[in-house]
Amino acid sequence: MRMYDIIATKRDGKELNYDALKTFVDGYCDGSIPDYQASALLMAMLLKGMTHQEIAELTDIMAKSGDIIDLSGIDGIKVDKHSTGGVGDKTTLVITSIVAACGKKVAKMSGRALGHAGGTIDKLESIPGFKTELTEEEFIENVNRIGCCIAGQTGNIAPADKKIYALRDVTGTVESIPLIASSIMSKKLASGADKMVLDIKVGSGALLKTQEEAEELAEIMIQIGERNGKETIALLTDMDTPLGYAIGNLNEVREAYQNVLGQGPSDLMEICLVLSAEMLKLAGYGSYDECYQAAKEAVASGKAKAKFIELVKNQGGDISVLEPVNDEEVITQELVASEDGYIQSMDTEALGKASMLLGSGRKTKDDKIDYKAGIYLHKKTGMKVSKGDVLATLSATDASKFDEARKVLATAYRYSDKPVETKPIIIARVDKHGIKRY
Ligand code: URA
Repeated sequence: MRMYDIIATKRDGKELNYDALKTFVDGYCDGSIPDYQASALLMAMLLKGMTHQEIAELTDIMAKSGDIIDLSGIDGIKVDKHSTGGVGDKTTLVITSIVAACGKKVAKMSGRALGHAGGTIDKLESIPGFKTELTEEEFIENVNRIGCCIAGQTGNIAPADKKIYALRDVTGTVESIPLIASSIMSKKLASGADKMVLDIKVGSGALLKTQEEAEELAEIMIQIGERNGKETIALLTDMDTPLGYAIGNLNEVREAYQNVLGQGPSDLMEICLVLSAEMLKLAGYGSYDECYQAAKEAVASGKAKAKFIELVKNQGGDISVLEPVNDEEVITQELVASEDGYIQSMDTEALGKASMLLGSGRKTKDDKIDYKAGIYLHKKTGMKVSKGDVLATLSATDASKFDEARKVLATAYRYSDKPVETKPIIIARVDKHGIKRY
């Protein structure tokens, strides 16, 4: 089938078969199909949708386009956790420590920042000395020795997705639910875990703005996982406000550490306990209630803290940065409330962008990150404020970054003169049997 016919088939709303999808992926990766034809097909996929069969086949083709990581050198069930990305999402650092402290192995491959949402690898690299680039052998050896390891992707995982994602990013086609599902799941299938917990973020700071879209994505991803023999469950979690109070790499590492000490913000603690319990359950620890209790106990007993420190030291990190210090290099400014009232809503994407503008993320892939840049929130949605109260502290090491960041940040808050009800952090749980909404 010629690429022209593949595009026309999808344009007319018809199903593409395996050969057509493989022709597209292989041809785009080897350079024989140009960007303009690949873009036309991706846009047709976004506008006309894809069948479950097409999504499964595209995922499989992209997963097999590079290395498949073999984690069989690690005993026991390996459970992965994936978040679709949000502002202030530092859960990976916390749950890795909790689950490993409960005796289950965590072999976690993570990514870098994507747009306004932070990435775990950038956060870890804010710890001086922390090594995230490991060989597959080093990665497996670390997990076997201390029970956990968080590293950047080893090997060449799903290179077809990498190339197609880069094109989607500049052609307005990231927002297709079938393409998001196949993109994420192709990487997950190639990275070797046995089972998966998905944290699908919903709200103003997430890729998916509505619960309906998030439920659709969850169902598709679960079907792909189950079809590949990997039990998969998903939690839909709120991203209308940032998670916790800290945004920015080093800020977030410190807040994650506070959380394993049992002193973190309640929304972050709750989501981490629930995600840890789901991972422990899939790993065969016991019933959900037993797993949840074990996760709580790991924090209360100090075992999660000890594991967090062991993880950081094992990968060469300097643990002295986990506690805040008076750092002369860091410049701070405050943003204050412009009116009396209650914070009705926060544009969480704007908060992520403001932090990125301060230097915590990259505008282009070659930008250098300022690990000390970020925002610390003093007030969040639902809280009462008086005009002049400090809403947020901005920090960066480069004074020229503040003006633009402040402008974006100031647009993020909406006020109400009446008390505002806040939403629960866990919105729904989805597995192969269906959806439970909370
Ligand atoms: N993250 C991914 O890896 N792929 C997408 O398509 C969207 C978010």
